[in-house]
Amino acid sequence: MLIAGNWKMNTDLPGGRALAEDIAEGIAAAGDRFAEIDFAVCPPFVHLQAVGEALADSPVALGAQDVHAEDEGAFTSDVSAPMLTSVGCSHVIVGHSERRQYYDETDAQVNDKARQARRHGLVPIVCVGETLEQRRTGNAESVVRAQLEGALDGVPVASADDLVVAYEPVWAIGTGESATPTQAQDLHAVVRADLSERYGDAIAADVPLLYGGSMKPHNAADLLSQPDVDGGLIGSASLEADSFLGIAERAVEVQSAK
Ligand code: 13P
Repeated sequence: MLIAGNWKMNTDLPGGRALAEDIAEGIAAAGDRFAEIDFAVCPPFVHLQAVGEALADSPVALGAQDVHAEDEGAFTSDVSAPMLTSVGCSHVIVGHSERRQYYDETDAQVNDKARQARRHGLVPIVCVGETLEQRRTGNAESVVRAQLEGALDGVPVASADDLVVAYEPVWAIGTGESATPTQAQDLHAVVRADLSERYGDAIAADVPLLYGGSMKPHNAADLLSQPDVDGGLIGSASLEADSFLGIAERAVEVQSAK
């Protein structure tokens, strides 16, 4: 299981550092309890270095929330893959619905970013998910399939360690209303089947498929116990160590039953 936090545009530098320290301390205090759980946090760019330092002795991977498709150049305000690797990032979110929604990011751009991440040894966390309107009109599955086709076309994945996919229904993000476990499982199965066609069954079986959208300690167990839900991409509940690690506790409980 992979429990990943997307801090979005939250925390200032001292607050981000303190949150990372609290998470690291909580994991250390749990001893072997979280030994089978993988963790990642994706803070704002400006906190990456400080958070990386705070997590240096912990098992928590460092991820960014976006990346530019070029190595360098005149792209004011953008951040490159070499910059991310130079501060210790191993993961990067691409195609988050907030990037698609507020910055009109297209599947083609998400694809460029995912390829760029792989070129630099970063693991892309590729986000897909339908809007409420798309779900209401019965198009959730086709939307997710099209997003995968657009985002993953030509992205080299030689092992399951090279990719993470997050299914994040847009209507569940930040609303307090998560998908039901069945809704999540149904779409995760669609993602798994797509990855099988694309990369073969063996790789597809082990690519972590994260659910994102109002995952909290109280609903995490039901979501994480679904066969194709391999973890969570957590927004607001990742902004406090207690709730973030509370979700990890649920992951430990359901993992042993899977
Ligand atoms: P919330 O957990 O706040 O709904 O956010 C989910 C998300 O968008 C993670 O990327």
